[in-house]
Amino acid sequence: MRPENVVLSEDGKSVVIIDQTQLPNRLEYLSLVTPEDFYEAIKALKVRGAPAIGICAGMGLYVTMNGLGDADREKFLTEMHHIAAYINSSRPTAVNLFHALRRVESAAMEYPGTDTAGMLAAMRKECTAIQDEDIAMCRAISEYGLTLVKDGDGVLTHCNAGPLATSLYGTGLGTLILGAEKGYKFHAYTDETRPLLQGARLTAYELDKAGIDVTLICDNMASIVMKQGRINACFVGCDRVAANGDTANKIGTSGVAVLAKHYGVPFYVFCPSSTIDMECKTGADIKIEERDPEEIKSKFYTEPMAPASVKCYNPAFDVTDAELITAIVTEKGICRYPYSESIPALFGKEKKC
Ligand code: MRU
Repeated sequence: MRPENVVLSEDGKSVVIIDQTQLPNRLEYLSLVTPEDFYEAIKALKVRGAPAIGICAGMGLYVTMNGLGDADREKFLTEMHHIAAYINSSRPTAVNLFHALRRVESAAMEYPGTDTAGMLAAMRKECTAIQDEDIAMCRAISEYGLTLVKDGDGVLTHCNAGPLATSLYGTGLGTLILGAEKGYKFHAYTDETRPLLQGARLTAYELDKAGIDVTLICDNMASIVMKQGRINACFVGCDRVAANGDTANKIGTSGVAVLAKHYGVPFYVFCPSSTIDMECKTGADIKIEERDPEEIKSKFYTEPMAPASVKCYNPAFDVTDAELITAIVTEKGICRYPYSESIPALFGKEKKC
């Protein structure tokens, strides 16, 4: 099975994505060709979720260079760096965007010949490898996740870290989807995830499609469901993990972690190990994207829901302090606090740390 959310065309001239802004009401596909197409699709969250953004950007760099025609090596590389920097500037928080672009750029730079066709072939190989690796990593993360829960558990989710945001199983939702395939009966409580409603529009859609019992709640209901004992674990994905385990994810994630600590509910972060950015020492080094205030004031409403003159602050992500995170689940194993010890150990071995 291949992912449907981000697909490189056979001829390498376009990338077809599911337009996530239209879900759950319409399943629409968009064909991306130019650098501007990729920039806009990522910026507007038509393709979103840290791994999916990276995969789309990497393929986007290949596709746009493929459409350029013949150029000498120096010109080719200059133009490639220019386009990569432009696509990379679309969103600042997810490290996957930067990683994927750098990998595809390196493939061209390291190609030993000077012919454009050879450089392009190397770029194609690299960007498809990123997606293939993500498929395998999501599956491995999901298998590890299943060791942390039991049949019948209630699981609270925030934002969307499912197949749309990644490849096939997903990270944060992978355990639930793989578990359902194996016959587990989980009860998911899905935060709607204001202001862009990734929980309501995408997670509820994906879990329902996978046959999982899913109950949608407003973000401010997480406390009551934990207090009522309905939640055995919280599952989230992430956009960047600092070397000390501080984790950036969708706005509201850190609030869920604080509540989970209060009620004694384990709080798990799921991500490929490539989402760990050893160059960020702590969460303070992670750049947080700020978005248009209209996402809070008027988007999704038939009339504005606040006075036009009122100020709005709209950070798209927050950082959950490492000590609030019970474990970080990666394809290489499960890290536990203190992460300044377990994260470096992760890169030294392939089993549980
Ligand atoms: O702004 P978004 O919708 O791209 O934010 C996505 C998230 O915060 C996800 O939880 C994260 O990228 C992990 S996706 C596997």
